[in-house]
Amino acid sequence: MARKFFVGGNWKCNGTSEEVKKIVSILNDGKVASADVVDVVVSPPFVFLPLVKSSLRPEFHVAAQNCWVKKGGAYTGEISAEMLVNLDIPWVILGHSERRQLLSESNEASCLCAKRLYFVGDKVAYALSKGLKVIACVGETLEQRESGATMDVVAAQTKAIAERISDWTNVVVAYEPVWAIGTGKVATPAQAQEVHSELRKWLQTNVSADVAASTRIIYGGSVSGANCKELAAQPDVDGFLVGGASLKPEFVDIINAAT
Ligand code: G3H
Repeated sequence: MARKFFVGGNWKCNGTSEEVKKIVSILNDGKVASADVVDVVVSPPFVFLPLVKSSLRPEFHVAAQNCWVKKGGAYTGEISAEMLVNLDIPWVILGHSERRQLLSESNEASCLCAKRLYFVGDKVAYALSKGLKVIACVGETLEQRESGATMDVVAAQTKAIAERISDWTNVVVAYEPVWAIGTGKVATPAQAQEVHSELRKWLQTNVSADVAASTRIIYGGSVSGANCKELAAQPDVDGFLVGGASLKPEFVDIINAAT
């Protein structure tokens, strides 16, 4: 089954409105492959979502970088899925490793206790139920890789999602090894392919052959204009979630990596 290439740009907690306008203008002027062959989704900080949405070329879409696990209310500082839908923001990134590591978001939780306030599986299920499309992030730390636990970790993170959803149509899985994020130490094409292929097998065994064949598994971690083509050539690498390089002109080259 053909899977459309997908390139996400995660701008993380970066930018002023002036800088955001500059990035948008680079993207708008860039010569990119047709929307028939690549989906492009950029994810500015919440406060810049309306600005980016209203000024970005129409074939590109926007994503929030997080949303709350249930209906909004007395949750100071949070943004609900309903608010994103209300602003016509189609995508949300959930379970990013920076949130898992810095803010104690876990796969799942049995109670709303201090260190386990957030749980990624429930967030994904809630966001999907409200009509959002989700980029769900998984990935191991260096310690976990070196101890041979990569697939156990990635499978557990994916299982926490799979147990809570039945329709994967609006899910893109982002495999982001934590050791490759923002370090300049990109996974080799073989390392990325190995995990993507194992993840696809996991989906086939534990969800369904159709979901395994159709779900896009994208790679994130020090992707650049220089390394994107070789990674994109791997059969199970269906695109990228890009951090640092998505703030630079080379993001245009990454969008075109598969063409
Ligand atoms: O969401 C994007 C990833 O965290 C990758 O970030 O490209 O700066 O390594 P990076």
